[in-house]
Amino acid sequence: MAPFAPAAARALWHTVRVPAAASTAVAPPLLLGIETSCDDTACAVLDGSGRVLASVVSSQLEVHREWGGVVPEIASREHLRNWPAVSDQALRQAGIGLDRIDAVAATRGPGLVGALLVGLSIGRAIAWGRGIPFYGVHHLEAHLHSPWLVGGGEPAVEPPERFVGLVVSGGHTLLVEAEEAGRRLHTVAETRDDAMGEVFDKVGKRLGLPFPAGPAVDALAERGDAGAQPMPIGSCGSSLDFSFSGLKSRALLQIDKLGRDGVRVEVVGADPAAVGRLRAETAAASETGSERVERDAGVAAIPAPEILDLLAAFRAAAVGQLLDRVARLHASRPFSTLAVSGGVAANLLLRRELTAWAARAEVDLRLVSIAFSGDNASMIAHAALLRHRRGEADDPRRVDAVSRIALEA
Ligand code: KG4
Ligand code: ZN
Repeated sequence: MAPFAPAAARALWHTVRVPAAASTAVAPPLLLGIETSCDDTACAVLDGSGRVLASVVSSQLEVHREWGGVVPEIASREHLRNWPAVSDQALRQAGIGLDRIDAVAATRGPGLVGALLVGLSIGRAIAWGRGIPFYGVHHLEAHLHSPWLVGGGEPAVEPPERFVGLVVSGGHTLLVEAEEAGRRLHTVAETRDDAMGEVFDKVGKRLGLPFPAGPAVDALAERGDAGAQPMPIGSCGSSLDFSFSGLKSRALLQIDKLGRDGVRVEVVGADPAAVGRLRAETAAASETGSERVERDAGVAAIPAPEILDLLAAFRAAAVGQLLDRVARLHASRPFSTLAVSGGVAANLLLRRELTAWAARAEVDLRLVSIAFSGDNASMIAHAALLRHRRGEADDPRRVDAVSRIALEA
C-alpha cells in the first residue's frame, strides 16, 4: 500500500462563491446534497427556492493521478476521509448546523458502487436518524436539471413543462426529451462508444496532458485553425446516436504521424498541478472563456502550430457532431428549450456554437453555468428538490447504489 499524505495536502478544493445576496430570507426546506459517484467528494446546501447556500467540491485528482486513472478502492476510501472536512465546510458556509437540514439527497448511481456507497450510506443514515425525507438521485438526472441552477445567491429557475436536455460528460453523452417539467424522461440518443469528454481526455493524454485533459485541449484548440485540415463529424447513419471513437482514432493517428514527421507532439511543460488548479478555479469562478484561455500558458508552453490546428479540427468535429444531432432532432421533433449540462458543457466552442444555433433556431438555450458543469452536490440537492415538491421521497433504508441505471428507471 502506498503511503498517503494528509488529505489537506492533496485535495483540490473549490467552493461556489455565495455572495451577500444569500442573506435574503432562506426558503424552507433546507436540503443537504451529497455526491460521491466518482472522484469528487461534494456536499451542498440548497434552500427550497433552489438557492445555493453552500457548495463544496473536493477533488481526488492528485491522489489518482499517480495510478493513471481513478482507482475505485482508493476513491471510496478518499470519500470517507474527505467527508468530515467537506461537510463541515458546507454547513459552515451555509451558516447552519446539521439539525437545520429538512431533507437529504445523495447520488445512487450510475457510478463506482464503492464510491457511491459512501455518500449514499451517509445520506441514508442522516435521513433515517433524523426522520427526514431522503432522495436517492440519478446522477444524470441531476446533470440534466443543473442548467436551472443560477448560483450567486439567486433561486433556481423553474424547468419548463417540456425541454430537451443534452448531457455531455466524461462518461456520458446523451440527448433526452423531458416532459412534465422533467418528471418523464426519454433518452433519444446516446453514444455508441466513447463519451465526448473521454475522447478529449484520451487525445490530450497522447500529448502528455494530465487527466482530465478536456479543459487544456479546449484552451489549446482556441489557438488553432480548425479549417486547416478539417475532420468529419462522425455519423451513425439516420440514427441520432453519437459516436466519437472514429474521431478519436483519427486524431491519435494524426498526432502519431506528426511525431514521425519530426513535429514535437508532447506539450512542453504540461503541469498537472496547473491543470488541476485551472479546473478548480474555472469551476469556482464565473470568468469568461477568453480569461480562461489566456491562462492556458500556465498549463503548458504553446505547442507546434500543426498540433494546435489538429486540436482545433478535432474539437470542431466533436462539437459539430453534437450540433448536428441537436439540429436534426429539432428538425424532426421541434422543441423550444434546450438545456445543456455536464463537464463538457464548459467547452468554449460548444458554448459559442450552441448559442449561435439557438438564436437562429429561436430556441431558448440554458447552458449550465461553469460552476455547476462538473460533478457537484448542488445539482443532486436540486434534482431532489424537484422530487420533494412532487412528494416523491425514498425510504432511506432501501435505496441501493447502482453502477449502471437507465435514466428512465
Ligand atoms: O461531468 P464531469 O465533471 O464528470 C463526469 O461525470 O464525467 O465531466 C468531466 C469531463 C472530463 O472528461 C473533462 O475532460 C471534460 O468533462 N471537460 C471538457 C472541458 N471541461 C471539462 N471537455 C472539453 N472541453 C472542456 N472545456
Ligand atoms: Zn457527472
